[in-house]
Amino acid sequence: LKHTHYIIVLRHMVCGCPKKCLCHSTSKTVDCRNQGLVEIPSHLPPETLILQLQNNHIWRINQDAFTETPFLKILDLSNNSVSNLSSGAFKGLHYLQVLNLTKNLIHKLENKTFSSLPQLKELDLSSNSILNLPETLGNNTGNITLLSVEYNKLQRLDRLLLESLPNLKVVLFKDNPWQCNCHVIGLKLWLESFLYRGGISDGIICSTPENRKGKDLLKVPYEMYGACPPTAAHVHLANVHHHNSEYRSSLKHTHLNENGESSHSDCEPKSKPRPVSLRHAIATVVITGVVCGIVCLMMLAAAVYGCTYAAITAKYHREHLAPTTEQRVPEGKEPFDSSLA
Ligand SMILES: *[C@@H]1O[C@H](CO)[C@@H](O)[C@H](O)[C@H]1NC(C)=O
Ligand SMILES: *[C@@H]1O[C@H](CO)[C@@H](O)[C@H](O)[C@H]1NC(C)=O
Repeated sequence: LKHTHYIIVLRHMVCGCPKKCLCHSTSKTVDCRNQGLVEIPSHLPPETLILQLQNNHIWRINQDAFTETPFLKILDLSNNSVSNLSSGAFKGLHYLQVLNLTKNLIHKLENKTFSSLPQLKELDLSSNSILNLPETLGNNTGNITLLSVEYNKLQRLDRLLLESLPNLKVVLFKDNPWQCNCHVIGLKLWLESFLYRGGISDGIICSTPENRKGKDLLKVPYEMYGACPPTAAHVHLANVHHHNSEYRSSLKHTHLNENGESSHSDCEPKSKPRPVSLRHAIATVVITGVVCGIVCLMMLAAAVYGCTYAAITAKYHREHLAPTTEQRVPEGKEPFDSSLA
C-alpha cells in the first residue's frame, strides 16, 4: 500500500494542482471553493491534508474519488448537491478526522458509509433531507466526538446508533420533526444519561403528536408512556425509579392531555386504559368507604351498648349499696366541717 502511495506522490509532483483549485503546499491545503464543480476534481496532490470543496454543485461522489488523497484529515463538502452517498464513497480515507456534509441533498445513508473512516472525530450531516439514520454509521466509528443531524427530516433516531458512539461529546438534534411517541423512550433515556455524563446537546423538541408539539423531550414525563407496549415502555420504565415523583406530580395534568389526544399510530399512548383504571380507583375508594362506614357503625353500636350496660350496672349498684355510702359520707364530712368552723 505504501509503495502505491509513493508512486502516486511521484506522479502528482509532476501533475501539480487541479485547474480550478489553489494548492497551498506548506499547509497541504487544496482550496476548490466556489468553482461550480460538479464532481470531485481529479489530479489532487496526494499529500493533501485539507480539501475544501464547499460552495460547488458536486452531486456525485465516485467510489474511488479519494483514493488519490489517502492522507486527508479534513474534507469539507458543505453547500453542494450531494444526494446519494454510496457505501464506498469515502473508501481509503484512513486518516480523515473531520467530514463536513452540511447543506447538501442527502436523504438516505447506508450502514457502511463511514466504515472506512476509523479516525473520524467530527461528522456534520446538518441541513440535509435525511429521513432515517441506520442503526450504526459503520464498524469503526468509535472515535466520533461530534455528530450533528440538525435541520433534517428525522422523526426518530435509534438508540443503538448513539450507543455505538462511545466517545461522543457533542450531539446536535435541532430542527427535525421528532416524533415523541413510544419509540422515543429509548432516545430520551439515552439523552438523559448522555447529559448526566457531561455530554453536550441542543436537545430534542417534539413535533408530533399534536399535544407534545414544541415540548422538550426531556420534560415530557415518563408517565406519558404508561400505555406504551411493554417492550417499548415498561422494560425501560422498570429501571427508572427516580422519576416516580415526577410521574405523580404530573398525573392529573396527564389525564387531561391524554383525553384530548387523537391517537393515530398503534404505538401512540392510548387514552382509554387510563379512565378505566381511574374508574377502578373510584370504585375501590367507594367500597373502602362503605366497609369503613359499616365497621364504624358497628363500633358505635358496641360503644352505645357498652355505655348503656355500664349505666345500668352503676344504677343497680347505687340502689343496692346506697345505704352504706350515705352512712359513711356524713361521718367523714363532719370532723372536716367542724374544724373549718
Ligand atoms: C452556496 O454555494 C453557492 C454557490 O454554489 C453560493 O452562491 C452560496 O452563497 C453558498 N451559500 C452559502 C450559505 O455559503
Ligand atoms: C480511534 O483512533 C485511534 C487512533 O487515534 C485508533 O487507534 C483506534 O483504532 C480508533 N478507534 C476506533 C474504535 O476506531
